[in-house]
Amino acid sequence: MKVTVVGAGNVGATCADAVARWELANEVVLLDIKEGFAEGKALDIWQTSPINLFDTRPVGSTNDYSRTANSDVVVITSGLPRKPGMSRDDLIATNANIVKSVTEQVIKASPGAILIVVSNPLDVMTYCAYLTSQFPSQRVFGMAGILDTARYRAFLAEALNVSPKDIQAVLMGGHGDTMVPLPRYTTVGGIPVTELIGTDELNAIVERTKKGGGEIVNLLGTSAWYAPGTAAAQMVAAIVRDQKRVFPVCTWLQGEYGLKDVYLGAPVILGKGGVERVIELRLTGDEMTLVHDSAKAVREVMDVLDRMSVTTA
Ligand code: LAC
Repeated sequence: MKVTVVGAGNVGATCADAVARWELANEVVLLDIKEGFAEGKALDIWQTSPINLFDTRPVGSTNDYSRTANSDVVVITSGLPRKPGMSRDDLIATNANIVKSVTEQVIKASPGAILIVVSNPLDVMTYCAYLTSQFPSQRVFGMAGILDTARYRAFLAEALNVSPKDIQAVLMGGHGDTMVPLPRYTTVGGIPVTELIGTDELNAIVERTKKGGGEIVNLLGTSAWYAPGTAAAQMVAAIVRDQKRVFPVCTWLQGEYGLKDVYLGAPVILGKGGVERVIELRLTGDEMTLVHDSAKAVREVMDVLDRMSVTTA
């Protein structure tokens, strides 16, 4: 197995580190446009191998896509991160051109790869990679749901004073303030969360989750990386080990939830074929309204991308 991570910034390096540490591939290629940067990060990760006990080989490359040839999975993290006061959508103009160019080079070197997009605005950058690659949608999807549910689960674990390991949750919608955590599908060791926490406290956690990325941007002055990078690596694991994990993933909807031709977070089964199935939950009317509102917000930014014509040049 060979995995490539494009972008050796904080998110990409964290992802490559997890891929190596979990031995998800024989080789993990880290690529960046900044001279020597990916090589340096790869060398540093390699030097943790005697400590963390792995033999996956990290390889750094300064923009030489031939080093990424025949990758099974490619994670795209390239693009600018958010600064305080910016929404993810503010990044579209810069990041669309970057994601398009990266995708073109990635698919030339690895025409059979599965693409996991992490760049923001997430749902629309996934759409950008889909249009550019013209791969089947099962092989092009985005990482956000694992990160967003991880935040939600971490907040809940803290509030309930229980292990985060015992919290299961699903969340839908776009990776932005319109995301839709679903308390009705949240359990703690099999117990519905609503039996353990009051409505007000739960609502406050849902609201905090929606702004979870922004909370960190305000603290750090830039985007988060440990949780986003590790979440992307968990998707890589599901694919290379054909685990059939059930995760919320940014996926191309084709009629599910009454939505068509939109990239949006929904629960899927992830395995060696990529998105092997989109799971359709029986949502209540209110939940469905929230999901449709979120799809509308994502579509508006997809329309901006369509008008930029970056993917039709
Ligand atoms: C976040 C960024 C990566 O949510 O979108 O932290």
